[in-house]
Amino acid sequence: MAESMTGLKRTHRCAEVSTSNIGEQVTVMGWVQKNRNKGSLIFLDLRDRSGILQIVFEEGKTEKEVFEKAGRLRSEFVAAVVGTVAARSGAVNKNLATGEIELIAKELRILSEAETPPFPIEEDSKTKEELRLKYRCLDLRRSDLQRNLMMRSRAANITRQFLTEEGFLEIETPMLTKSTPEGARDYLVPSRVHPGNFYALPQSPQIFKQLLMCSGFDRYFQIVKCFRDEDLRADRQPEFTQIDMELSFVDVDDVIDVNERLLQRLFKEILDVEISLPIPRMTWKEAMERFGSDKPDTRFGMELTDVSEVVKGCEFAVFQNALESGGSVRGINAKGQGGMPRKKIDALVDFVKGYGAKGLAYIAIQPDGSWKSSFAKFMKEEEMKALIAAMDGEAGDLLLFAADRTKLVLEVLGALRIEIAGQLGLLDKDQYNFLWVTEFPLLEWSEEENRYTAMHHPFTMPMEEDLKYIDIDPGRVRAKAYDIVLNGTEIGGGSVRIHQNDVQEKMFEALGFTKESAYERFGFLLNAFRYGVPPHAGLAYGLDRLIMLMAKTDSIRDVIAFPKVKDASCLMSEAPNIVDEKQLAELGIAVVVQGKEESEG
Ligand code: AMO
Ligand code: AMP
Repeated sequence: MAESMTGLKRTHRCAEVSTSNIGEQVTVMGWVQKNRNKGSLIFLDLRDRSGILQIVFEEGKTEKEVFEKAGRLRSEFVAAVVGTVAARSGAVNKNLATGEIELIAKELRILSEAETPPFPIEEDSKTKEELRLKYRCLDLRRSDLQRNLMMRSRAANITRQFLTEEGFLEIETPMLTKSTPEGARDYLVPSRVHPGNFYALPQSPQIFKQLLMCSGFDRYFQIVKCFRDEDLRADRQPEFTQIDMELSFVDVDDVIDVNERLLQRLFKEILDVEISLPIPRMTWKEAMERFGSDKPDTRFGMELTDVSEVVKGCEFAVFQNALESGGSVRGINAKGQGGMPRKKIDALVDFVKGYGAKGLAYIAIQPDGSWKSSFAKFMKEEEMKALIAAMDGEAGDLLLFAADRTKLVLEVLGALRIEIAGQLGLLDKDQYNFLWVTEFPLLEWSEEENRYTAMHHPFTMPMEEDLKYIDIDPGRVRAKAYDIVLNGTEIGGGSVRIHQNDVQEKMFEALGFTKESAYERFGFLLNAFRYGVPPHAGLAYGLDRLIMLMAKTDSIRDVIAFPKVKDASCLMSEAPNIVDEKQLAELGIAVVVQGKEESEG
């Protein structure tokens, strides 16, 4: 039977009670974490979002009716307790913030009874994530998820405070809008009033924030939901949150400056971690060459080495073929891993094949300096020695080589480097390595669409000195675009925007848009530009990713209250779902059920 809380008022959260309250009467309310009944003594752990408080009921001392009621408490019952704070009579619990005290209960009310939960409410749950997500409301009672969401709330608050101090205005932009240019698939919302017409949910507020600059708001920010219908991964959700900003009358360095100070403030206030400024910068080209990635993890070395020149004349067909068809041969040195068992090396070969590589050639340098290698038989001794020297190979090292199209070689070794570092425990979550990656290519050739596409988006400003190539060699043009990378994850990105008509037209041309098709899609921005547009630039963070790294978890689902799973469904609400015929009829929509393959394609 649930009792009412009438007449009681909570005075403290459970873990807010401390030694300074000894002797005082307090009222706490929360969930029963544990009830240990020792016969004449009952120890109750009461939990709320602040933590746990031990409560003691003692036969003979506690009123009889209260003592009996305490015996009925089960896990997850909701209870209110009035009592007196005392120093612990038993052993002090060093693991608990309230480990030196306990509450001697005087009054108890059972505010709600609870069925046995489908899994225990405990930190570092061993329960399968599917089950936890189905009962997300219970899962969210666990202290690790509570901490993550509290951290997220603080981060959002600090961000608001900081940006407001810096002169930014928080302005909302529409959710029911037109397709935005971030390159993923849109989520569409049918219009009832305009049958056959659809809104698109924003992939970002990009166009609107640029319009706000045209309106003179100068510095804008928003903590905002964005929607992208793309394949999910551990760091991707179909709806996610950006800290989005745009600034007028600025260039790259101004955006970087304010964001470095924002990151510095967040990490200091939330984690007490000092980020020393300036954050290092690296061009995209250097990042690709050295780390095989546009978001290098710089917590460890194992950088890529181009050995194409060194192996040029050798007889190993794999290397020769790659070089002859314009590709390259590159390697990484896994220091001290020369003794890696053959089975594990084979697993690495399988790993790179998952990235489209045809194989992985290796040299395992033995303690005596001799080597075991998958391709030594095709090589002369001097050639092997030269190759090992080029890789700084020493006794006990494992050298791994990929030969193919350069783009693939970089991607494969970039991924392999992270994989090996993970296996070797080199990815220290307590270390925070920030990096700006700058000078991204403006355009990217899309095999699929057989045209150039914007690497960032079509409003990104080319670097002035490269503008001359935009007609003759578009792939060579670098952009005033930058990403902020933390420990190998892209946590944010942005660019200086084009504000000159002629440059924008050239850009559309390079992207294969006609003037008409550009106006059809982005006319409302291009028209606004006709009436006075300030030079402007901006950036957006993925808030979920940022908090994921700050909270040291591997999945953004752990920092989102109600996330979706791999197939973009919500296991708790069972969205998406079918709707009434009547709703469809109102929208003028008929559903055509496709074959599985077709709908996946
Ligand atoms: P971009 O597309 O790089 O830029 O997005 C900015 C940041 O948002 C995060 N992010 C995601 N997080 C979780 N799930 C996703 N599906 C997802 N997609 C992106 C990433 C990324 O760095 N309008 C531009 C910004 C600008 O130019 O100002 C934009 O949206 O951390
Ligand atoms: P094979 O002669 O095909 O048996 O290959 C000899 C070695 O080269 C094996 O270790 C293969 O894994 C490796 N190998 C094959 N293709 C490539 C490639 N494209 N890049 C690097 N190594 C490769």
